Amino acid sequence: MVTFKFIHHACFMLEHDNDAIIFDPYLDGNPTGIKASDIHVSHVLVTHNHGDHLGSAYEIAKNNKATFISTAEVANAAANAGCQVHSMHLGGTHQFPFGKVRITPAFHGSGIAGGHACGFIVNYYGVSVYFAGDTCVFSDMALLAKLEHIDYAVLPIGDNFTMGPEDAKVAVELLGVKKIIPVHYNTWPLIAQDPEKFKDEVEAGGKAQVFVVDPGDSLELL
Ligand code: NI
Ligand code: MN
Repeated sequence: MVTFKFIHHACFMLEHDNDAIIFDPYLDGNPTGIKASDIHVSHVLVTHNHGDHLGSAYEIAKNNKATFISTAEVANAAANAGCQVHSMHLGGTHQFPFGKVRITPAFHGSGIAGGHACGFIVNYYGVSVYFAGDTCVFSDMALLAKLEHIDYAVLPIGDNFTMGPEDAKVAVELLGVKKIIPVHYNTWPLIAQDPEKFKDEVEAGGKAQVFVVDPGDSLELL
């Protein structure tokens, strides 16, 4: 059984038996009060170096002797900060103990000179999850769904910094993924959105299901 545990913003964990991995571990102000010292993971995946994604990644990686996975520039910065890293780049795939990781493009700043923001397609113990990271919608999302089977897509819907709900509906169509989890909304007034409205509108199309997961809640991935 694989569990999606949403912390808040774009930070979530995937858990299976005694293993867990964390994505974009920005913990500041999370409503459940989870601290870096509470997090036990084998890997830390970071899409880009903006503060609301890098967050407590270094502390968590070092506490757990976990492997920090990102694009080369972001991973090199983590290595310089004392983390154990696995550096990858756009279009690259690698087999980790939990399954395969593919680095996908994301159209967004990397927060680091010469870098590129990314997303991840992670096959975690047989469940394939696409985390788009911070990005606009782009037509090559259709290509991603050709390259990898994707069970769940975790998409930003907050608008302003990333695609908003209207564009995310187009992303759902391009991906053709049947199960969608919205993130990166309602953290601040600037990215306030109604996820239930997004859910209703996507589900009205009859092709995809939207799982609205509140901060601190978990979803069993099937
Ligand atoms: Ni960002
Ligand atoms: Mn962000």
